[in-house]
Amino acid sequence: MINWSWKSRLRGCAPPASPRCQVPDLPLCGLPTPLDVRQALHWAVTALVQADVESPRLDSEVLLGHVLRWTRSRLHAWPEQKLSNREWEEFVAAVNRRCQHEPVPYIIGHREFFGLDFVVDRRVLIPRPETELVVERVLETVREMGWTSGATSVADVGTGSGVIAVCVATRLPAARVYAIDSSPDALQVAATNVARLRVQNQIQLLCGNLLDPLPDRVQLLVANLPYVSTADLHAAARDVRDYEPVAALDGGRDGLDSIRKLLQEAPRCLAHHGVLLLEIGADQGPRVANLVQQAFPNARVEVMPDYAGFDRIVRVWS
Ligand SMILES: C[S@@+](CC[C@H](N)C(=O)[O-])C[C@H]1O[C@@H](n2cnc3c(N)ncnc32)[C@H](O)[C@@H]1O
Repeated sequence: MINWSWKSRLRGCAPPASPRCQVPDLPLCGLPTPLDVRQALHWAVTALVQADVESPRLDSEVLLGHVLRWTRSRLHAWPEQKLSNREWEEFVAAVNRRCQHEPVPYIIGHREFFGLDFVVDRRVLIPRPETELVVERVLETVREMGWTSGATSVADVGTGSGVIAVCVATRLPAARVYAIDSSPDALQVAATNVARLRVQNQIQLLCGNLLDPLPDRVQLLVANLPYVSTADLHAAARDVRDYEPVAALDGGRDGLDSIRKLLQEAPRCLAHHGVLLLEIGADQGPRVANLVQQAFPNARVEVMPDYAGFDRIVRVWS
């Protein structure tokens, strides 16, 4: 029997600390014990709906799949499989975290990006699908410039979990990549990913402000720096606002503080005919294009959309 109420758990309250997390009071929710997969999912979806979580079914399945080390299709194929007490306790704890709006990738500790599995935790931004487009544009640029055969030099500024640097390194085995971040914590996560995905020989992790730590000019500069305005960040969903690192998101009053500074430094760090790729906010295309013209008066500038048709990437052919 537990001494914390079903309702309080649904509101996201943690169970009292105990040497061993107790199985919830099943009679209260009218479910037989031990629960099977279908019942556990039903319980979780109900809890997440009440906690106002956006995708309750998907999140419940991902969390249960994580606990059981099962794929989602296996959950559908074996709904009558009973959970052990340990699995149920682990699932309750995971659902409870999600009820408090902690993002699923932080709960399960990883996120797929560009077909690779990356470790993530609260020290880094959760990589977004839009950023996969940035990687695609990097690879396209390398092809268009005819750099594929040589040791292309790339700098990923604001590397976070290292997703851009690692994806570029795995796709371009001859490339040399500098992965820069001002957060030593984020760089520890990037180092884990670099090692797990076996690209240590190609990537050098550098800690510092923007381009300060870069030892040489590079052919390609790519940056997904903070670009959310401080006001928008305060108004963002709890999942983002309460859990993701502020330093990865907050771009100051108009969101462009970091991008503005990077553009001032970029001309002295790009090799002859080098290319700069920036991820930007949906409403920032014209303003960033204008800043680019000031920093690179003779450059060709492209503003490219994301999957939803919003401005998302600025490419500068210097
Ligand atoms: C939007 S996150 C991008 C993370 C990762 N590249 C991605 O696409 O998922 C921005 C990253 O830039 C880093 N950052 C913020 N300001 C910086 C600065 N002045 N110099 C270097 N890195 C910075 C943050 O620590 C954070 O990891």
